[in-house]
Amino acid sequence: MWRVRAALLLWVSMSPGDSLSDSQVLENITVRQGETVFLRCLQGDAVTRTAWLNRSSILYAGEDKWSVDPRVSLEVLSRGEFTIRIEDVDMYDEGQYVCAVQTRSRPRTTSVHVIVQVPPKITNVTKDMRVNEGSSIALMCSGSGRPEPSITWRILSPSARGIVSQEEYLEIPAVTRQQAGIYECSAVNEVSADVRTLQLVVNFPPSMSKGKDVGVPLGQRGVLQCEAEAEPAAEFEWYKDDRRIVSSLNGIEIENVSKFSRLTIFNVSEENYGNYTCVATNTLGSANTSIIVFGEYGIYALHN
Ligand SMILES: *[C@@H]1O[C@H](CO)[C@@H](O)[C@H](O)[C@H]1NC(C)=O
Ligand SMILES: *[C@@H]1O[C@H](CO)[C@@H](O)[C@H](O)[C@H]1NC(C)=O
Ligand SMILES: *[C@@H]1O[C@H](CO)[C@@H](O)[C@H](O)[C@H]1NC(C)=O
Ligand SMILES: *[C@@H]1O[C@H](CO)[C@@H](O)[C@H](O)[C@H]1NC(C)=O
Ligand SMILES: *[C@@H]1O[C@H](CO)[C@@H](O)[C@H](O)[C@H]1NC(C)=O
Ligand SMILES: *[C@@H]1O[C@H](CO)[C@@H](O)[C@H](O)[C@H]1NC(C)=O
Ligand SMILES: *[C@@H]1O[C@H](CO)[C@@H](O)[C@H](O)[C@H]1NC(C)=O
Repeated sequence: MWRVRAALLLWVSMSPGDSLSDSQVLENITVRQGETVFLRCLQGDAVTRTAWLNRSSILYAGEDKWSVDPRVSLEVLSRGEFTIRIEDVDMYDEGQYVCAVQTRSRPRTTSVHVIVQVPPKITNVTKDMRVNEGSSIALMCSGSGRPEPSITWRILSPSARGIVSQEEYLEIPAVTRQQAGIYECSAVNEVSADVRTLQLVVNFPPSMSKGKDVGVPLGQRGVLQCEAEAEPAAEFEWYKDDRRIVSSLNGIEIENVSKFSRLTIFNVSEENYGNYTCVATNTLGSANTSIIVFGEYGIYALHN
């Protein structure tokens, strides 16, 4: 056995000095992580000894397995061909493999370069975020893979926009409420893609549009509505002439539906006429708008 190893090492150490036709790098074999690679050496007749090496370690010398790696096995050993198989290939298997052949006349080597591709994997990505409007943020996404994956950022919602960054970092110097949404990071290489999404929530104080005054005849139903854009969602309060109005009291009901608050007066009387104020509040501030409820005597009279 030792003599064989010595002989094989001699062939390899001799190879740099061989003439070009006797020592060649044949090809690159590209294989994906987890797959099986076949290393095939076509040998002529009159071969006396043959071996497959991984760098300087012998994997197989003829039909004798020297490698202790269970993933390595013999596929074909015939007069014309010597093929071994490596299963479940991983990154560290990448490199040069040499088939060394001893013919009666002289030694000959053939090399193959095994390139291992690994699917991209995003390893570090910013989590869902809630920030105040105006703050400066950086979304980060990094990953590994072979070849090195390219990273891109997209905005998916509220309205899908194309690629917004082709780097690991997406910097937003002064974030606005319009930039809130679902962000997607993708890492892509020749093998496949890995994708993550995150939600960016931007806090801002309530802003209200001017409420519309309402005219309601006596005895009719009056509905007052106010609307507030806010994040987090606003809480609403209603006042009449500086007095807080509480729901379900004196024939009045208040309902809040997402960004709206609606105050219903079921049976309008004289004392219901006046100036109502709707106040919207969240953690960042508050806003208000006033709505005048007035009697529509003219129209009421006309209808009678
Ligand atoms: C093998 O791959 C290397 C880079 O990975 C490249 O430079 C070389 O040209 C390739 N050789 C062949 C024969 O494709
Ligand atoms: C090839 O050699 C490298 C470096 O020694 C080792 O990590 C790897 O497991 C070897 N692969 C095979 C299939 O022998
Ligand atoms: C992820 O990225 C952040 C910011 O660059 C860094 O502080 C952290 O150590 C990274 N985590 C990992 C697991 O690489
Ligand atoms: C509304 O209130 C007035 C005065 O209190 C009352 O006469 C009338 O019946 C009420 N209408 C309804 C529909 O409840
Ligand atoms: C709706 O607004 C009223 C106003 O007083 C408030 O008491 C109530 O808690 C609010 N309800 C919801 C679900 O926000
Ligand atoms: C209604 O009340 C608000 C708050 O008290 C006040 O600012 C506004 O001027 C009043 N509107 C009218 C028409 O009186
Ligand atoms: C309504 O807003 C004004 C400023 O826009 C503020 O001065 C006032 O105090 C607010 N009123 C209430 C009831 O919050």
